[in-house]
Amino acid sequence: MSIRDQVYFFDTTLRDGEQSPGCSMNTSEKLRLAHQLCTLGVDTIEAGFAIASQDDFNAVQTVAREVARGKAAPRIASLSRAKREDIEAAARAVEPADKNRIHIFLSCSDLHLEYKLKISREQALEQAAESVELAAKLVDEVEFSPEDATRTDPDFLCKVVGVAVQAGAKVINIPDTVGYTVPQEYAATFRMLKERVPGIENVVLSSHCHDDLGMAVANSLAAIEAGARQVECTINGIGERAGNAALEEIAAAMMVREDKYPYRSNIVHAQLFPTSQMLGNFISFRPSPNKAIVGSNAFAHESGIHQHGVLSNPLTYEIMTPESVGVEKNNIVLGKHSGRRALEHRLRELGVSLTREELDDVYHQFTELADRKKGIYDIDLLNLVSHERRQEAGAIKSA
Ligand code: KIV
Ligand code: ZN
Repeated sequence: MSIRDQVYFFDTTLRDGEQSPGCSMNTSEKLRLAHQLCTLGVDTIEAGFAIASQDDFNAVQTVAREVARGKAAPRIASLSRAKREDIEAAARAVEPADKNRIHIFLSCSDLHLEYKLKISREQALEQAAESVELAAKLVDEVEFSPEDATRTDPDFLCKVVGVAVQAGAKVINIPDTVGYTVPQEYAATFRMLKERVPGIENVVLSSHCHDDLGMAVANSLAAIEAGARQVECTINGIGERAGNAALEEIAAAMMVREDKYPYRSNIVHAQLFPTSQMLGNFISFRPSPNKAIVGSNAFAHESGIHQHGVLSNPLTYEIMTPESVGVEKNNIVLGKHSGRRALEHRLRELGVSLTREELDDVYHQFTELADRKKGIYDIDLLNLVSHERRQEAGAIKSA
């Protein structure tokens, strides 16, 4: 294995992300997001589940028609059950794309086979083979996902993956459908498949993790270390229940810890924050403030000690520059934990220079105010300095 292997990003914001509460988007929003995902450098966009509804079909087809143009364009995929009518609808929807894919999923754990599909393992093997063969005749590439793979009997998992590879699947995705696995176990599953499935060396292995135990990103990175070369994820980690692995977190981890993850990708890191913002504008919620990389506090500093450090050298409390992920600059937040140095810095930015005594006085008033008030705004700070100083700074227009 070359140490600079390529990891391909498969974005499923428009499918797995969109199918979670509060995340629905109309076709024009999906199209705008798809264009942005293209700018971000994702390799494959799963644009929807074509058979699910006419709207879904139209969205997949519109993205396939309008986004996927030229050599560097992403591949457009549609999800499909292992059924003829699904596969044919998916094929029609992705047909206009320069590069297309059908992503077939089929439950494989005994729990799902018995209670959800009500079919035997043998029937599942047949369905996997038939559906992959059919899809392979209709599009460039077929991806196969044994749904609930991480709770599937390992011997049966090897069998069904072997059948899908034989039938012509080019990508084998191992979904941790219910966010149940842990990094060592997930990595071991990839190693097992590489050892035991004939022909596996000819396909791309893929991770697909949900965050029910808060380990989706850690599991995805473990899969990459164990040989996965496609990673499925969503912007802001939106998705079923606790969400999917967050694209921005995986991409940033690979950038910041290149020593641990020495892989190439096509991601343009400076587009991470703009993409997150765009998604936030389209759905009904934004990432929580403390969300890694894209949350509003991800580069904010309030405590005096941290502010002092960051003002001297940002590396003291930041492991990546805000600019590297597309955030304009770090945010020195003034609050009750802030120190003199940060207050002086912000006042200088507002054009106010104070003598040492004046700063002592303003700082004293500031700490009293910060004890009473949750958010301190520039106008509050300006109100603490003398009329003369404000006039000098041009903060007061009238004489
Ligand atoms: O989580 C899951 O199992 C899925 C499949 C459809 C790939 O999203
Ligand atoms: Zn999923």
